[in-house]
Amino acid sequence: MIGKPLGISVLAILILTLSALGIAFTPLSFLLTALLPYAAFAVFIGGFVYRVVNWAKAPVPFRITTTCGQQTSLPWIKNNSLESPADVWGVIGRMALEVFLFRSLFRNTDVAIVGKRPVYGSAKWLWFFGLLFHWSLLIIVLRHLRFFIEPITPWINGLSAVDGFFEIGVPTLYLSDGALLLGLTFLFLRRLVVPQLRYISLVTDYFALLLLLGIVTTGLLMRHFFPADLIQIKNMALGWITFVPAMPKEVGPVFYIHLCFVFTLLAWFPFSKLMHMGGIFLSPTRNLANDNRMRRHLNPWNAPVKVHTYEEYEDEFREKMKLAGLPLEKE
Ligand code: HEM
Repeated sequence: MIGKPLGISVLAILILTLSALGIAFTPLSFLLTALLPYAAFAVFIGGFVYRVVNWAKAPVPFRITTTCGQQTSLPWIKNNSLESPADVWGVIGRMALEVFLFRSLFRNTDVAIVGKRPVYGSAKWLWFFGLLFHWSLLIIVLRHLRFFIEPITPWINGLSAVDGFFEIGVPTLYLSDGALLLGLTFLFLRRLVVPQLRYISLVTDYFALLLLLGIVTTGLLMRHFFPADLIQIKNMALGWITFVPAMPKEVGPVFYIHLCFVFTLLAWFPFSKLMHMGGIFLSPTRNLANDNRMRRHLNPWNAPVKVHTYEEYEDEFREKMKLAGLPLEKE
């Protein structure tokens, strides 16, 4: 049976598809090709900056680095600069491995109750398909720059050539397209099939995956089954960035659905969990060096406190303390 969060997400995707189709066949199509690009991009940039500034403003008075190894201390104790970075280079190294290779996800473990005790095992599938999905998405977005740049820079052509290296089909099937589809399908099925994950999955979890699946599917449909007029589309994309939007003629309904999904993704991105893209860099457990023993960190937000030292206390109560027979530091 289809659960409520999944049902709502499927419904949202259907509504988006029907709206795109509705727009495609009416004069309102200029909304999608001339107005929405700017609106969606403005919301994306504004929302992204807002979230990042908000995070950056949160007080982090102390170092709360995640440590999984020996911190730097005495010269004769071997430290682990990646697991417990003591300086900015260590932080950069660890962050780079995290961002490019999902290093901490590589340590993902699975737990099963065998008899009455938990048994832990390695679980690399999430890491593998997660990495596959993110890298292929990046490659596809970079390849799409060909619509926005004239003449197309050689590295974009090079990337497309490598991506279509095996020359499967006409037009060539890009490896990144297949990889993205595979990665997304795994991530989606994982939420459906694993009962614990289905239990904690929310509308936003399914919606993100379905929206991306929608973008890939419509992209693949355009490339392999319902070819879009790429010259018209490139004119339109160049029109966006030169602020002279050109209305494409007869680019086909699939293209309108593709665009509608992309703009929804852009506008929703800053307010969704997808903001982990920016959030990772602002995570204090990852972006701080563990130099707690080398430097004394004072909380800069500490309000001035009026202290009452023991000496002052004794001065105040000396006579009473003497009468009660309590020991005194000063007679
Ligand atoms: C998040 C952004 C986007 C993603 C993830 C995405 C994804 C895809 C994918 C996976 C394909 C299949 C073929 C290929 O990989 O080239 C595709 C094709 C296509 N996309 Fe996108 N797309 C995005 C944004 C856009 C935008 C903004 C445009 C408008 C300029 C666009 C226009 C097209 C066109 C015209 C095709 C067909 C290409 C061909 O026939 O070779 N896409 N897209």
